[in-house]
Amino acid sequence: MPVSTIAENSLALYGEHVNPQWVKLLDVLEMNVRYERCSGVELFTSDGARILDFLSGYCVHNTGHNHPKILDALKDELDRSGPGMLQSHIPERAGELAFELCRLAGGGLNKVFFCSSGSEGVETAIKFSRAHTGREGLLYAEGAFHGLTCGALSLMDNTFWSEGFGPLLQGNEAVPFGDLDKLAAKLATRKFAAFIIEPIQSEGGIKVPSAEYLQKAQQLCKKYGSLLVLDEVQTGMYRTGTFLAAHQFDVEADIVILAKALSGGIVPVGAVLMKDAVYESVYSSVKRAIVHTSTFSENGLAMRAGLATLEVLQKENLGERCTASGEYLRAQLRQRLSSFEMVSDIRGAGLLCGIEFRPPKKLGLRIPFETFHRIHPGMFGQVLVMRLFRDHNVLTQVCGNNFMVLKVAPPLVATQAQIDEFVLAIEEVLERAHTSPAFWSEPLGMARRVLNL
Ligand SMILES: Cc1ncc(COP(=O)(O)O)c(C=O)c1O
Repeated sequence: MPVSTIAENSLALYGEHVNPQWVKLLDVLEMNVRYERCSGVELFTSDGARILDFLSGYCVHNTGHNHPKILDALKDELDRSGPGMLQSHIPERAGELAFELCRLAGGGLNKVFFCSSGSEGVETAIKFSRAHTGREGLLYAEGAFHGLTCGALSLMDNTFWSEGFGPLLQGNEAVPFGDLDKLAAKLATRKFAAFIIEPIQSEGGIKVPSAEYLQKAQQLCKKYGSLLVLDEVQTGMYRTGTFLAAHQFDVEADIVILAKALSGGIVPVGAVLMKDAVYESVYSSVKRAIVHTSTFSENGLAMRAGLATLEVLQKENLGERCTASGEYLRAQLRQRLSSFEMVSDIRGAGLLCGIEFRPPKKLGLRIPFETFHRIHPGMFGQVLVMRLFRDHNVLTQVCGNNFMVLKVAPPLVATQAQIDEFVLAIEEVLERAHTSPAFWSEPLGMARRVLNL
């Protein structure tokens, strides 16, 4: 088939050969648009619309879409026609990127294993923690999201993700996020190789713990011989203002997992940073030099994109800018949204923010809210997402493990004007949710049609 014909048919081919259910879902939400060009915070569609991205591909696009400096670095790497991926040589760029990552992370993290996704990073952390401690089980926090491979799934308590895929890893247990007593009791059994935790829970609902919690967790892990693993797949790379969220809490982990934003949102990549002693438990002899590897680990494009991304993040002071923008965003949201009955909290760090909703008390709102909830617990949030997209050209999403929290996470390059545009949009959507019967009746009709109710 000629290439042009393939392009014309590509949407139909996707539906036929990739994921028809995803196509249906996007159609229902009226979010199935064709993006032609993406730049910074803006996405341009084939029918001429400009959409503000306040999701960043779930914290991938920290440097903004298609940052020109990262594109230039990648073009240069391709033009070089070098050893993109051999697995039989020493890729120098991997050394340079690892050096930079360790320098920025600090805290005695001195070795890096590169991989191609966050989940692969989590799998690495599981294997290395087991190898280092000789223990089998892992402890994790309720509400966590660590990825969808079998090991990562076994560190998540929301069965939506794991149903039908078992049996998963045995011996893992969950503790409530933020509860030191329960954590201490579990760690005291000395059964656990590691406690793995997101320093700020993202999909769990943008939950920010106290510094004391994470610091004590570090002490407890040390006391009972478990490793502390921080999953910074979403929170890392200055998303919360500092290079690692851990830096804000003054906590030092044995292993830190990075991915998503590390390559400017263009090339798949992941990096697992760890202390020398942990690394040496796995690569303990020449015989074991390749005991844990992955084909595209350390590939030239990913490493080059990683170096260029770190340079952009630092040269453009995106960490400091993110801290200031995040404070501005939350202040504006609090000022404009706090009087709405259904808004219960606005929280976050840097540009990882959450707007939490609660069921309304007024009868006129309670009845449609409960009807939505009975159809699907995520429906209220999804209608907000749909309205923001359709009526205001703003892309957002609710948290995957907490449907009552809208995640607000634009690229770190977002301007004050773009933040103001978002605040105005969410204010107008919530104003309608609190006053207009059509806000509720129209999606109810849609849900009935789709679900044949
Ligand atoms: C905190 C966290 N850890 C791990 C992962 C898994 O990353 P990936 O989708 O790249 O496998 C995700 C993905 O969203 C995540 O949010």
